[in-house]
Amino acid sequence: MVTNTLMNYTTGRENLQHWLVSEDGFRPEWLGKGESVFSLGNGYMGLRSVTEEHYANETRNLFVAGTFNKFAENEVTELPNAADLIWMEFKLDGIRFDLTQGNILSYRRTLNLKEAELVRDITWQSSNGNVYDLTFRRFVSMDNLHVIAQRVTITPKQNSVLSLTSGIDGQTTNSGVQHFLEGNKRLYDGRFMQQIQTTTESGIDFVFHSVHRFYQRESMNPTSIIKMDRRQIFFDYSDIEIPANEVFTIEKYSTVFTSRDKELNAVTTEELANHALNVTRNVESKGYENLFIEHIQAWDELVWSRTPINIKSKEMFDQLAIRFAQYHLAVMTPKHDNRMNVGAKGLSGEGYKGHTFWDTEIFILPYYTYTNPKIARSLLEYRYLSLPGAHRKAKENGYDGAMFPWESAWLDDGEVTPVWGAADIVTGEATKIWSGFIEQHITSDVAFAAWQYYHITGDQEFMDHYGYELLIDTAKFWASRLEWNESENRYEINQVVGPDEYKEHVNNNAFTNYTAHWNIQKAIEYVELLRIEKPNLFEQLNAKLDLETAEARFRHVLDLIYLPQVREDGVLPQDDTYLQKEIIDLSKYKNQENVGSMFYDYNLEQVNEIQVSKQADVMILMYLLEDLFSADVKRANWEYYEPKTLHDSSLSLSTHSVLASDLGNRELAYSLFRRASEIDLGPNMKTSDAGIHAASLGGIWQAVINGFGGVRMTSGNLRISPMLPEAWDELTFSINWKGETLDIYASHDKVVLTRRAPSIEPLTVEIYGEKQTITETFTSEVLSV
Ligand code: BGC
Repeated sequence: MVTNTLMNYTTGRENLQHWLVSEDGFRPEWLGKGESVFSLGNGYMGLRSVTEEHYANETRNLFVAGTFNKFAENEVTELPNAADLIWMEFKLDGIRFDLTQGNILSYRRTLNLKEAELVRDITWQSSNGNVYDLTFRRFVSMDNLHVIAQRVTITPKQNSVLSLTSGIDGQTTNSGVQHFLEGNKRLYDGRFMQQIQTTTESGIDFVFHSVHRFYQRESMNPTSIIKMDRRQIFFDYSDIEIPANEVFTIEKYSTVFTSRDKELNAVTTEELANHALNVTRNVESKGYENLFIEHIQAWDELVWSRTPINIKSKEMFDQLAIRFAQYHLAVMTPKHDNRMNVGAKGLSGEGYKGHTFWDTEIFILPYYTYTNPKIARSLLEYRYLSLPGAHRKAKENGYDGAMFPWESAWLDDGEVTPVWGAADIVTGEATKIWSGFIEQHITSDVAFAAWQYYHITGDQEFMDHYGYELLIDTAKFWASRLEWNESENRYEINQVVGPDEYKEHVNNNAFTNYTAHWNIQKAIEYVELLRIEKPNLFEQLNAKLDLETAEARFRHVLDLIYLPQVREDGVLPQDDTYLQKEIIDLSKYKNQENVGSMFYDYNLEQVNEIQVSKQADVMILMYLLEDLFSADVKRANWEYYEPKTLHDSSLSLSTHSVLASDLGNRELAYSLFRRASEIDLGPNMKTSDAGIHAASLGGIWQAVINGFGGVRMTSGNLRISPMLPEAWDELTFSINWKGETLDIYASHDKVVLTRRAPSIEPLTVEIYGEKQTITETFTSEVLSV
């Protein structure tokens, strides 16, 4: 275990209790942790929390959702790292402010989750013995999505002289790749810096502005000179005299606009720049306090008042952990534009290049579907809008229908999974990544999420416009993907990667086959329903998808699809060969400090031949299609597969936690929830370098609400059977169910479900196995599941 950590989770007091995440020291080798876990954003942009001043080993990132660019033919499209707007360099009495020099007399950096503000408080003694108090605050506005605001105060203990360099630095790259062509730079009104850059291939204009304000008792203007360099525009301010114990304040307001911004579509670069300049003028005249108030209100409306989750527990960390998850989900989700989706590292790092995976549909979407359906719908619309890329992928591979890319970026990019990955310790070559070619379950994951969304929200309009089509088009892919095995007289799906990416080129991965079967079954149901109940829509979709032919094929294949069967001992084979592979002692890797340690001893080809799994595979099937498997079968598979699962993907622990709750093992469920929460928020200072783990954060919400809260939609019905861990006294939360809000209170003795808007229209909910009809509120005693 990591014994050395800087993280402190107990700094919040009174009304900020369980709202603050702090770092109590500065260690240059651990910069990545704070940069990711403290990252700020609003779904439009994400700002990695680097310090104003530069350090070696830092990763300065600003990403704007959806602005993908492809640097070269042999690379895949990625989110470009935009200009650095928070950059400031300070000289205090002639000495560069640098925490690796002099002495740090006190240090704390805190992310306030409630107000989404990052504050760094330092008392620093420079090498000449002078002492300064410095406070750095910043936020990325949730109210005006284009705005970043910073406020720095410097209080010297002696009469001091400050010089400052601050501006816009467009020299940023993605690990060396420069995605931008240099555009105009200009100073307006003697104060407003403007820099324009354009992505090299996608041709997206980025317009950046920054402007400063200074106060020493009152507003003042220090001596300054404007400078320009390659991809940089900045001010040098010099000879700022600060008397001992006087506070000197610097404010910096920056804005980001791009030609991809939906509301500004079709304007010229010049118009975009003018608009951005006007907004910046406005923002600057509002000032930090006013902007901050609007920002806090927007956060409250979007998240904290809308979706409060309260955990009463001896373990302070748990309440913080769920808020941390909700915070980052809001920071990373581009709710403003249905042409965009969530990246596997959100907008907090270069990891996974800003690409979208099944992480959205299976791990993140349930949070939105149950708490903010509008956002869930927007994320599903993204898949609908990216159907052209899915059709292209199917065609290129010789299939019909919609074959969704394993990794996706811009709508018509199609497949963007990189082909080469980490070093192979045996061959010395790069390891080939097969997921983009053969990890195909993403297609049924999208179908599943659309179906789940529909049944939880009751959003018929979504179904009519997008849902039926998505479910049928994806089923068309599967129906064409099946391979006929003459000797076995069945359809198989061969040569795939299932959710467990440590098994490549396997035949009949249970997760893939079962979910493909499910997808085709649903499509048959919906074609039938459309024909009878919605003849106009049937005709429309028939013209588009040839429903008659598709349906005949669906019906022909359905019962011939091979579904691996549970063995006598209850174990469901993960694929055709997993259970025959070598079993080795995995304890070294099960107890690893950092994930992926097995690859220091084996290469992927060797791992392929061992009964070892990267993440939940059979187990996630038993979570999604839970009605198909009995509790005994679930238990048998848990006991077989979990000891062989390294949880090397951050998606794994939360699923296991929900399943442990289902199996009635709350202590195990609780310890898995804790481990999942500690992926980003824990003591290990190296886990989050490439960015926070988006799916894991969605999974933490599922562990709490679907696991301990026992909330589940099965076959279109709502089930709520809470089962709290020992450490918790109470859990209170709300969910949306078919357009209404249900408030749920659970303790160890009782569960109270209240319809926020009582209605005589009865609501049927299954509580601990009993169907209850509720008009207003219902109280049940807790029964074991
Ligand atoms: C996991 C995938 C996941 C991806 C992005 C991989 O390591 O195996 O299941 O989709 O990371 O988070």
